[in-house]
Amino acid sequence: MRRMFVAGNWKMNTDRAGGTELARAIAKAVPADAAVDVLVAPPLPYLLPIGEAIAGSGVALGAQNAYFEPPGAFTGETSIGMLKDVGCRYVILGHSERRQVLRETDETINKKVAAAVAAGLGVILCVGETLDERDGGTTEKVLETQLSAGLKSLAADAVSDLVIAYEPVWAIGTGRNATPEQAQAAHAFIRSWLSNRFGPTVGAATRIQYGGSVKPDNAAQLLGQPDVDGALVGGASLKADSFLAIVQAAQQVGAARR
Ligand code: 13P
Repeated sequence: MRRMFVAGNWKMNTDRAGGTELARAIAKAVPADAAVDVLVAPPLPYLLPIGEAIAGSGVALGAQNAYFEPPGAFTGETSIGMLKDVGCRYVILGHSERRQVLRETDETINKKVAAAVAAGLGVILCVGETLDERDGGTTEKVLETQLSAGLKSLAADAVSDLVIAYEPVWAIGTGRNATPEQAQAAHAFIRSWLSNRFGPTVGAATRIQYGGSVKPDNAAQLLGQPDVDGALVGGASLKADSFLAIVQAAQQVGAARR
């Protein structure tokens, strides 16, 4: 059975004191033996203090980006080894803000995914369509392109620590979440694509998070869909009580599934 996985993507928010306080409050409520996987992905400069704040709890540390090259002359970039060195368990790759604002291509994202997988760092690979693409009826085509390009050349035995986050761009930061039916349809499509590409075992085992305006009041419904295995939370992950309410919803759905 797939364990529920709730991740907080803090994006370019918080400061050292506020982030540490937020991490402490989350860690206090998530014991090491929690029944769901919980992750926080703070801004890069705060990885170390946040890592200390969550030590010993059930909250894992994640990064929001990485570069695929080994250490060298790449000004401003961060290697995957460096992220592991400061305690990261996962890295979020291919987020729509990086695709759209920072102009990351599927090819670059694929190099990052491959490098993280090779180094044993878990990957949360984000995919999702824009509103124009949804309205134009090309959602599945877009997802297929992002998945096949992002996971190009990867072998089935290499993707055991891979998580896919379905984040429809039109739902990110807009307060307009996908309906549970829309999320389920996209997740089912992603799972069947994974099964075709990597085999049914990988398809059945891979966790697919939903992201895009997940809030305490819609989490249970979204997470209650059979192919939704967790959430990648932006805005609501910046307050301990709203993030923890989503974690609790995941816990309840997970318990009901077992
Ligand atoms: P919001 O939850 O703020 O819509 O952000 C979602 C997201 O982009 C998480 O990666």
